[in-house]
Amino acid sequence: MKQPPHYSGLSKLNHWVTALLVTVMLVLGFAAGGAPDEATEGYLMSLHIGLGFFVFLVVIWRVAYRLYEGFKANTASTAPERWLAWAVHRLLLVALVAQVITGPLYLFTEGEGVDVFGWFTVYLPLESLAVIHEPAELVHVVSGLYVIPALIALHFLGAARHYLSNRADAVDL
Ligand code: HEM
Ligand code: HEM
Repeated sequence: MKQPPHYSGLSKLNHWVTALLVTVMLVLGFAAGGAPDEATEGYLMSLHIGLGFFVFLVVIWRVAYRLYEGFKANTASTAPERWLAWAVHRLLLVALVAQVITGPLYLFTEGEGVDVFGWFTVYLPLESLAVIHEPAELVHVVSGLYVIPALIALHFLGAARHYLSNRADAVDL
């Protein structure tokens, strides 16, 4: 894979648009999980699913572009930090791809479509895969509630450490 000396402008745009969208998806997911009644939960979930359609497109585009452009050379100071940054960056992208696939899969395998704010609905007839309905839900919910937030927290701590060090110019975003 290529290893650019810096992330391109498009990469930076992709990074921050995805960071914003994923944060909104997490807030909607967590808020729906703790909603005081079913109507509120249903409303928050309809926003989560509608926005999810666009998040799906952005995540797939972003990951494809990263595979094309390559990851920048790792500049963390110590070997364990370099290893952690290497792993967290890749795990974040893998977890996001899994998240945007398991969400729609959960709906399709119970005969529901992805209703995008009432504008249009995307539907794939996958009821025959009903056996993966619950595993898809388990992966989506566990990753959404625990794995992705933990990876983002680690990633944020790593970025903060760099920003606050006298090597802040070593990071690119
Ligand atoms: C990176 C993107 C995403 C994140 C971070 C995310 C996060 C979450 C979280 C945290 C929950 C748990 C709610 C709870 O039970 O407390 C959840 C549930 C759910 N999400 Fe997502 N999600 C994402 C993408 C999607 C997409 C693309 C769709 C479909 C278009 C989707 C559909 C759903 C559905 C249907 C549930 C409810 C599952 C159930 O009833 O147990 N999500 N999501
Ligand atoms: C919380 C605020 C965030 C900060 C301060 C931040 C900062 C950074 C920095 C400085 C880098 C470049 C590291 C280098 O130069 O090698 C980076 C890369 C990366 N970040 Fe973030 N980030 C944030 C949020 C997020 C979120 C929410 C996600 C995932 C949804 C994410 C995913 C990634 C990934 C996958 C990379 C690897 C390069 C790429 O594919 O863009 N970041 N981040």
